[in-house]
Amino acid sequence: MNNFQYKNPTKILFGKGQMVNLAEEIPNDAKILMLYGGGSIKKNGIYKQVKEALLDNEVLEFGGISPNPEYCILLKALEIIKTENIDYLLAVGGGSVIDATKFLSGAAYYEGDTPWDLVTQNKPVTKGMPYGTVLTLPATGSEMNSGAVITRAETKEKLSMGGPALFPQFSVLDPQVVSSIPQRQLANGIADAYTHVLEQYMTYPIGAMLQDRYAESILQTLIEVAPAIQKDPSDYEAAANFMWSCTMALNGLIQQGVPSDWSIHAIGHELTALYGIDHARTLAIILPGHYTYNFENKKEKLAQYAERVWAVKEGSIEEKAKAGIKKTEEFFYSLGIDTKLSDYTDEYADTASTISKRFADRGWNGLGERKDITPADVEKIVAMNY
Ligand code: NZQ
Ligand code: ZN
Repeated sequence: MNNFQYKNPTKILFGKGQMVNLAEEIPNDAKILMLYGGGSIKKNGIYKQVKEALLDNEVLEFGGISPNPEYCILLKALEIIKTENIDYLLAVGGGSVIDATKFLSGAAYYEGDTPWDLVTQNKPVTKGMPYGTVLTLPATGSEMNSGAVITRAETKEKLSMGGPALFPQFSVLDPQVVSSIPQRQLANGIADAYTHVLEQYMTYPIGAMLQDRYAESILQTLIEVAPAIQKDPSDYEAAANFMWSCTMALNGLIQQGVPSDWSIHAIGHELTALYGIDHARTLAIILPGHYTYNFENKKEKLAQYAERVWAVKEGSIEEKAKAGIKKTEEFFYSLGIDTKLSDYTDEYADTASTISKRFADRGWNGLGERKDITPADVEKIVAMNY
């Protein structure tokens, strides 16, 4: 097992009715900017619950944050933070609203030339305005981690940022919010969390027995609750297990002491930037080809995964490993998610070379757990998923 230092400062308020405790988590004299998305919270009652919980606080609002939060829109929120002397942020939404809030937390205190530098500087953000979250969509784990992904339509870029200052102070996780989530987003949430676990697991054996079993148990739980959630999103038990699995998949715990990959996400973000494909679906497109292309490097863990998660008991390491890739693809199909780029767009002929060139331009010359996946490899991996 590798050495590690681990700290996660986010307080979790999990369960039915936790929203009423919201005000206790925020200083009484704070001037709050509440941030939200396209308006789903006004239809499902979450907006009303938050406003009632914060009746005695000073709260301004900024709505209209788009999925894959857009930099230009965030600049407008930043202006309000500055002109209104806001000193506390509250994200009410899914990964996009929470990521937007993380960016704003850093941007509010940023003294450099342009806040976009926070995204491109490749330096951890160490100063941020305090904020909390009310999660409305289990998927990204953003509610308990310090990373964010920001999009800039002007340049068709979608890039990650983060740092120790960007953990939420608290997150309210009430599984009852799942009942209003549309089928497409439920499938996305399950597939995204599932792939988060795999990015931190499907590498090479390093003798981290507990991390492996944590990872496998999250995968098994997601597989088990997926049909129940899709059949009835108001099934509280299923929703609670779904929600906590998504948080646990990317709160940093299972990544400690083990190598991690993250190339599926790096490549997937380009597909969203270029075509607007939902984040989770880009992962389902890239994963099978990526594991097939890097089969020799990943076959031991692929076989362990097939055996422990999918109960594949027969065959050689190679046969089990191949079965693991197939089972994963079938799982995506079972959620209603297609795994070929051509299922989403007709204009894919140059995609592989475009992404490869972008990675080369950015100096991303070695992706993956061994840092050996070059832009030329990326081109081949993307082309395998047409
Ligand atoms: O905008 P509103 O009206 O709120 O509607 C949203 C949005 O249209 C809707 N929704 C959310 N909660 C709902 C609901 N509809 C009904 N009932 C509810 N309770 O769902 C739609 C999608 O929301 P979004 O926040 O975009 O989804 P998700 O949580 O999947 O977030 C995706 C974003 O997170 C980034 C992705 O790249 C993408 O930009 N990621 C962030 C990560 C992180 N910070 O750690 C890691 C991930 O790998 C991912 O990259
Ligand atoms: Zn993801």
